[in-house]
Amino acid sequence: MNSTLQSQTPSEVDLPHLTVKRAWPRILGIIVTAIQSDPPDLLGHLRTETRLLHDHLESTSLLARLTNTELQIDDYIDILKRYFGLLTRFEEQVADHPGWAVINRQPETCRKSPLLKKDLNTLGVDPSNHGHPATADLSFECQSVSQFMGTFYVIEGSSLGGIYIAKHLQQHLGLTANNGASYFHGYGADTAGQWKQFCGHLARYGETIPDPKPVVDAAQHAFSTFHQAMSGR
Ligand code: HEM
Repeated sequence: MNSTLQSQTPSEVDLPHLTVKRAWPRILGIIVTAIQSDPPDLLGHLRTETRLLHDHLESTSLLARLTNTELQIDDYIDILKRYFGLLTRFEEQVADHPGWAVINRQPETCRKSPLLKKDLNTLGVDPSNHGHPATADLSFECQSVSQFMGTFYVIEGSSLGGIYIAKHLQQHLGLTANNGASYFHGYGADTAGQWKQFCGHLARYGETIPDPKPVVDAAQHAFSTFHQAMSGR
């Protein structure tokens, strides 16, 4: 997240969804990618081919509330349970995956379910092993390394919006990294650096594969899985 977004005023945070102001970092990223590389690299493919899915997900009524003043603590707990179910599933699926070596990370340093569990516990909720019932039968496509890369792009990218959301949670519900909103603080000040590093690995991986499609398909599947989780009962 860049400093411009961090310095947004509360009224900007409360803008309706999908406004240009809010979407500009992603739009800018797509434009820069398009200018820098012709034909598009793997990140360029992922960006252009998942942008609408991101916007569609962001505008589900539950996630839309995350950044507007209608947000109630019960909505927030509901969202945390859904994230918890999804990320626990992802972490189980990729616990011992060869993809970790490609992105030069250890699975334990990327595990986000403990943060969600901590936030839920702080808010007085003990999540069952698999979170919200809407996530019970969901899973990600991540058998191959390409599928891992596409799915990880979505899981890791969700931290970028998280910083923006964290600011709203603090302003609107008084929640901080130590008090119910640790998940949305992600890697904190290191979030941009971690993302940049991952994008570097993604770009290098893209040069080794003949076709970006399996990566893009897995990313689209991951967005669709999140969408089902956020809209299911
Ligand atoms: C209300 C919820 C959300 C908001 C407000 C939001 C907002 C944003 C913003 C502002 C960015 C650009 C950040 C930057 O470039 O500095 C971004 C990027 C991204 N977000 Fe979200 N997001 C939300 C939910 C999600 C979720 C749930 C996912 C995944 C399931 C997700 C996946 C991504 C990805 C993959 C990117 C990186 C796009 C790229 O390649 O540049 N977001 N989001």
